[in-house]
Amino acid sequence: IPIKVSIVVYDGALDAKPSGAGGPAPEQGEHTVSITVVGASGDLAKKKIFPALFALFYEDWLPEHFTIFGYARSKMSDEELRNMISMTLTCRIDQRANCSEKMDQFLKRCFYQSGQYNSEEGFCELDRKLTEKEAGKLPNRLFYLSIPPNIFVDVVRSASRTASLPSGSGWTRFIVEKPFGRDSESSGELTRSLKMYLEEEQIFRIDHYLGKELVENLSVLRFSNLVFQPLWSRDYIRNVQLIFSEDFGTEGRGRSALLRRPVGSDKNVHSLAYFDNYGIIRDIMQNHLLQILALFAMETPVSLAAEDIRNEKVKVLRSMRKLKVEDVVVGQYKGHTRGEKSFPAYVDDPTVPNDSVTPTFAAAALFIDNARWDGVPFLMKAGKALHTRRAEIRVQFRRVPGNLYRGSVGADLDMATNELVLRVQPDEAIYLKINNKVPGLGMRLDSGNLNLFYSERYQREIPDAYERLLLDAMEGERRLFIRSDELDAAWAIFTPVLRELEDKRVAPELYPYGSRGPVGAHYLAANYNVRWG
Ligand code: NDP
Ligand code: BG6
Repeated sequence: IPIKVSIVVYDGALDAKPSGAGGPAPEQGEHTVSITVVGASGDLAKKKIFPALFALFYEDWLPEHFTIFGYARSKMSDEELRNMISMTLTCRIDQRANCSEKMDQFLKRCFYQSGQYNSEEGFCELDRKLTEKEAGKLPNRLFYLSIPPNIFVDVVRSASRTASLPSGSGWTRFIVEKPFGRDSESSGELTRSLKMYLEEEQIFRIDHYLGKELVENLSVLRFSNLVFQPLWSRDYIRNVQLIFSEDFGTEGRGRSALLRRPVGSDKNVHSLAYFDNYGIIRDIMQNHLLQILALFAMETPVSLAAEDIRNEKVKVLRSMRKLKVEDVVVGQYKGHTRGEKSFPAYVDDPTVPNDSVTPTFAAAALFIDNARWDGVPFLMKAGKALHTRRAEIRVQFRRVPGNLYRGSVGADLDMATNELVLRVQPDEAIYLKINNKVPGLGMRLDSGNLNLFYSERYQREIPDAYERLLLDAMEGERRLFIRSDELDAAWAIFTPVLRELEDKRVAPELYPYGSRGPVGAHYLAANYNVRWG
């Protein structure tokens, strides 16, 4: 049974309310929260958002009174939405449990409104229905923009004018999905446009990696274990590696969209064209990996309050050097045949131009020019269609000076330095590589691991990142969401190199689908005397 520490939040008491965002919630009466998933017919809504909402409901994390609305252009009845949602709901806590009763209760709270994104008519109708459901309760509204970025502003404009709660009522918040622009300029433009209609406090920019259990645990590991505190600096850490790899190509996301949609519709083009327009640096590095880096490297925040943490993160990002083109290696996967099976090249995708130079792989060496991290390379590697799926933070420590055991049999102590690994996924784990004596009468050394495997230690299934983030947004907890100054600082690091790569059309190094990626990544690491873990 979860400890329901957070549900009280819906009485509005814990919620710092921004001015102009609907004013403070009334002190008394029963509260209700209405969650509208805009783009409800889409991939993310089906795959992640509705299942996460159900998981929260299943575990009693949602408030007693809540309503869920799907909003999109597709024509659908409430019943059709429910059928669509029910296809992806699972009993997350226990796969064997029969949770059909809970599912029915959940689905009864789900409704649908069809409408355009850039017209106020549909949102007016939504507002009417929301108001009807909220009758007699103190309302709060959450809009999740699960739509392509080119319509974010249309939706915010229409929804904020017609379906936002009036001042003096409860809160109205908007969760915005990435991508937040393509570079400093477009991101700044998006921020300015959103702020024409919303207060910064109403905007919840999501980076779902921040909701992952191991990423959340990074700060706990750092700040609640004395053993790591003195080690966390250039004095002891040789390099830090942030690694993301997927063992499927861009078709992993695009093809599913293609299959469910009529060929030739503009929507296919969006999903499949997304990646070609963005590439792996924008898709993974500038957000997911950089956010992890900031959490890893920040100074101790004054408290666990969102602003204190985000203040520290933004300081790290501002202390970072702009990435240089010579510190980046880009790659793109090519077709590969293994036995009977053949795997497509990135450019085999019919919507990708044959001469596309969009990177599906990148490696980069980044630096933080502050006292703690001066000279320590933070190496990032992200790629699609590689040999394995994993996301890891690897911390390689320096050599032991004057090591007494240098020359002992069994371990090359120059190579076998300590390494701390946080495996974000799959099979969440934290382990520390140490040197150890092999039992016996001789003196032979071995490298072993001190392990914390989550599946062995904790029986409960780990919640999906979207569950944590949706709950936080409802609670008004902004710690795991990106503030606009963080975003500016993040883009400042990557924009010049992205521009240069694109202006010069730098050809990516081709690597076979399912391989370990371009060898260039090894040369890049070797420039800094690093070997990838
Ligand atoms: P989809 O392409 O599935 O689009 C969502 C919905 O938006 C569609 O069902 C469609 O609804 C509407 N839509 C699509 N294209 C257009 C268009 N050109 N003009 C107007 N409406 C359109 O997107 P996803 O669900 O994959 O992603 C949603 C958001 O989440 C995006 O910003 C994406 O970058 C982000 N994201 C997605 C992830 C994923 O795994 N899918 C992961 C991380 C982020 P209708 O036609 O019914 O109006
Ligand atoms: C998304 C990227 O943000 O993260 C996708 O746009 C990527 O390209 C996905 O596949 C990976 O998320 P996860 O949670 O499956 O590791």
